[in-house]
Amino acid sequence: MADPGGTPDSNDPRQELQRLARHLRLRLEGEGRAGLAAVGRAKPVQAPKCPAAPATGSIPEGATAAGAEEEEPACESDAEVRAAEAAKRELAERIAATKSPAASAAGSSREEQAPAVHVAGPRLFDLTSPDTDAGVPREEALARIVAEVAACPLCPELVANRTKTVPGQGSPYAKLLFIGEGPGQDEDLQGLAFVGRAGQLLTKMIESIAMTRDEVFIANIVKCRPPQNRQPTPEEAAHCRPFLMRQIAVLRPKVIMALGGVAAQNLLETHDGITRLRGRFYPFMGAKLMPTFHPAYVLRNYTPDVRKKVYDDLLKVKAELQA
Ligand code: URA
Repeated sequence: MADPGGTPDSNDPRQELQRLARHLRLRLEGEGRAGLAAVGRAKPVQAPKCPAAPATGSIPEGATAAGAEEEEPACESDAEVRAAEAAKRELAERIAATKSPAASAAGSSREEQAPAVHVAGPRLFDLTSPDTDAGVPREEALARIVAEVAACPLCPELVANRTKTVPGQGSPYAKLLFIGEGPGQDEDLQGLAFVGRAGQLLTKMIESIAMTRDEVFIANIVKCRPPQNRQPTPEEAAHCRPFLMRQIAVLRPKVIMALGGVAAQNLLETHDGITRLRGRFYPFMGAKLMPTFHPAYVLRNYTPDVRKKVYDDLLKVKAELQA
């Protein structure tokens, strides 16, 4: 990462981004408001709750259960409207930076170095397989999957221990699909994906690219909680695969974000680790799949570096959604 105090290099998009962030922070502070969160560092400014105002900054400091429940202030003054506009511009600039010639050059050279995905066997998600839900309205097709998941008997240990099945939820028209590993305790109790601490950070991640949970879809590799939050076995993942495959076929999302190594490895059929896989797109069932760190990993490793990597991945996703 560039030295924030060093000589600006006009060819370096990161330095340009930092310069913009500093400029914006100074402007906001000049207006008597809290400063803009520096990339991957400071506490973020909550974007005022004004029409179309996106959230700003990096993955937020203190994005914990308590943080997620903080009320946002109502939009009251001209300064807040200006701050919202500045936040919107800043998000657009960050996204543009991910598309700049310098950034794409960096991206393509990274892609050249990126490991090939090692396909282990038959494709998991065979687009030529019969489309069970063809011709059925999305809402109905998704509801059918929910009912089938609820009745699924395939994994004896998971069935014996589950409180509720967690099929996944969100907009039937979502362009962005998040796929995690499997439900935890909170999810098992509520029957909803990503509603615990990791889920609250996921909400912040979604909001950081000016979206809401209502407009995305959130699912998991397995739809029943593995006891003690252990990783799902390959057999359990294989049992759940047809449900997830059908959800993807119904949603036809533009972008899929695989949250964590288990999700990325299962989807891409690779043993490569998340650190190698993250940060670039892989073609997947007509969508572009971006692996990133799992929110629970981010909470355990709450460093500027990890937060910045996840935010960079999210900005690439946002740019792809807008392309
Ligand atoms: N972790 C996951 O991978 N999925 C959830 O739904 C919750 C936590």
